[in-house]
Amino acid sequence: MAVPINEREPLSGAPYVYNPELERIEIELLLEGVYRHYGFDFRSYAYASIRRRLWKRVEGEGLQTISDLQARILHDQDTMERLLLDLSVNVTSMFRDPHFYREFREVVVPTLRTYPFIRIWHAGCSTGEEVFSMAILLEEEGLYDRARLYATDINDVVLQRARQGIFPLDRMQEYTDNYIRAGGRRSFSEYYTAKYDGALFSPSLTRNVVFSQHNLVTDRSFSEFTVIFCRNVLIYFDKQLQNRVHKLFYDSLVTYGILALGSKESLKFSQYEPCYEKISGTEKLYRKVR
Ligand SMILES: C[S@@+](CC[C@H](N)C(=O)[O-])C[C@H]1O[C@@H](n2cnc3c(N)ncnc32)[C@H](O)[C@@H]1O
Repeated sequence: MAVPINEREPLSGAPYVYNPELERIEIELLLEGVYRHYGFDFRSYAYASIRRRLWKRVEGEGLQTISDLQARILHDQDTMERLLLDLSVNVTSMFRDPHFYREFREVVVPTLRTYPFIRIWHAGCSTGEEVFSMAILLEEEGLYDRARLYATDINDVVLQRARQGIFPLDRMQEYTDNYIRAGGRRSFSEYYTAKYDGALFSPSLTRNVVFSQHNLVTDRSFSEFTVIFCRNVLIYFDKQLQNRVHKLFYDSLVTYGILALGSKESLKFSQYEPCYEKISGTEKLYRKVR
């Protein structure tokens, strides 16, 4: 049965009159339940996006209302896992926004050479494409052996995929183009072997990677980092939550450490903006200066 995906469109044939205020209450109650029962805190995620994804799950479960979904989720962990996949938007790619990686090579890598040891945190790494891209870049720059990459995500299912290092073979052409545009120095196919419909990336790329579950909303910092990547994650959070996560990043970066955000994200209007300087005219690359 169709569900109301946007507010202009009440549920046709629904056993109740569509009421946006009531819908908000149902959504808030569901998110509260998810938080209290499972510990996943989506209460400060951007409302419009959460709402759309909840209705998608209502439909996927063959239910009618958000309250129906709440009951199902609280009593059935499998439904919670499916919802987690819906809510955690795992879209990613290798060398995503190739110009970002090109700029990283040019602007950040020279600074990284001055460190005897480099700690990089990929917060919200999804299925790992971003981490493998960085491992390749560091390997080509001769920096991989002095680096340790911490790849974290709220979602354990995507982390398990990341650990395997197998990516869809049919995306290799796109990734090869990205790699070249990102300033790649070798032949991209050197990094993987084709296996059925998957591309298995060289296990040596993850020899210095630690994959682990970490929730940016509820968990604390776990080290001091030279670089933090958090790309295309904050976009799903409301302003208040973005500020909280910026505090976490600020506390977790060494002085002169680098913060890398996604193309649609920025430090603008965050209370931490004065603590950083922008080090690229085109990319969201910031250096912590105070
Ligand atoms: C769109 S992906 C971005 C992946 C990669 N950083 C990139 O730019 O391609 C967003 C990721 O953020 C993760 N995420 C969402 N909320 C999170 C949270 N509270 N803590 C940690 N990760 C979170 C999701 O599970 C998802 O894998």
